[in-house]
Amino acid sequence: MILVTGATGTVGRALVDQLAALGAPVRAVTRRPDRAALPEGVDVVYADLGEPDSLTAALRRVRRVFLLSDGPDIPRHDANLARAAARAGVDSVVKLSSGRVADPSAADPVPRWHRAGEQAVLDAGLAWTFLRPMGFMSNALAWAGPIRATAAVEAPFAAGRVAVIDPADIAAVAARALTEDGHGGRAHLLTGPQALSPGEMVATLAEVLGLPLAFTEVSPAAAREALLGHGVSPEMADAITALRAASLEPFTATVTPTVEQLTGRPAATFRAWAERHRKEFGHG
Ligand SMILES: NC(=O)c1ccc[n+]([C@@H]2O[C@H](COP(=O)([O-])OP(=O)(O)OC[C@H]3O[C@@H](n4cnc5c(N)ncnc54)[C@H](OP(=O)(O)O)[C@@H]3O)[C@@H](O)[C@H]2O)c1
Repeated sequence: MILVTGATGTVGRALVDQLAALGAPVRAVTRRPDRAALPEGVDVVYADLGEPDSLTAALRRVRRVFLLSDGPDIPRHDANLARAAARAGVDSVVKLSSGRVADPSAADPVPRWHRAGEQAVLDAGLAWTFLRPMGFMSNALAWAGPIRATAAVEAPFAAGRVAVIDPADIAAVAARALTEDGHGGRAHLLTGPQALSPGEMVATLAEVLGLPLAFTEVSPAAAREALLGHGVSPEMADAITALRAASLEPFTATVTPTVEQLTGRPAATFRAWAERHRKEFGHG
């Protein structure tokens, strides 16, 4: 049995779909099983990474775990899962981490949280694989509302470039790591095929949607205020602002061949991702 945490989120849902399509036995963790809407045949269970007892129950008869946690709780939640998995006799854990963990100079919150999470998995003595993706293409869905409303996008750090990755490619790598042997003890830096600036992503969206879209650079402070206005906590808004600032550093523009090496398929382009998500932007 493979346990997938974060199963209702962007990467986890794609992973559950791919594992179910492969016929692998999957148990999916959510705090809201009634709302999970996961494929037939998937064993959907309640668990909370903040409640170790719920993890013990979810881990019965599990061999491999996909560990997805988020935000300031990452160190504590990863430690809870890793300890419970070790007690349950789990063989291996595939942890979704962050690409910037691989940048030794990165000291802002998100890479710090994920480094602590990786360490918790190591400390539990489990066999491990760390997936370290660069920024997700799906972050562009935050622009869907403004595009539908005003055909205009605002973003900070216009000169920054990130080798953004399609979350479906992260899921494809995770599915391999969870169903094949030979991934133990490996940390994979996962990227898309091209480093893009926010303006270049908006230009691609304009072509795919067949719309003129305006792009305006805003200050980091204004972008942080916008996050707070959407209900993001001040701690998370600071962490996201630091991540966005890191796009000015050469590291985030690094392109790796890892997705293709591990899946046998080239990493998806941002254009292909945008074509698959036209509906969310109000087109198709
Ligand atoms: N976005 C990026 O650019 C980027 C880049 C690199 C790495 N990452 C990393 O990717 C991860 C986020 O992945 P994602 O975008 O796929 O996630 P997501 O769509 O935000 O979904 C979060 C998932 O976590 C689950 N969850 C939240 N709190 C939980 C708790 N206390 N106990 C159990 N489950 C809980 C939610 O499930 P329920 O609500 O159903 O319980 C949901 O399935 C983070 O670790 C982030 O640092 C993101």
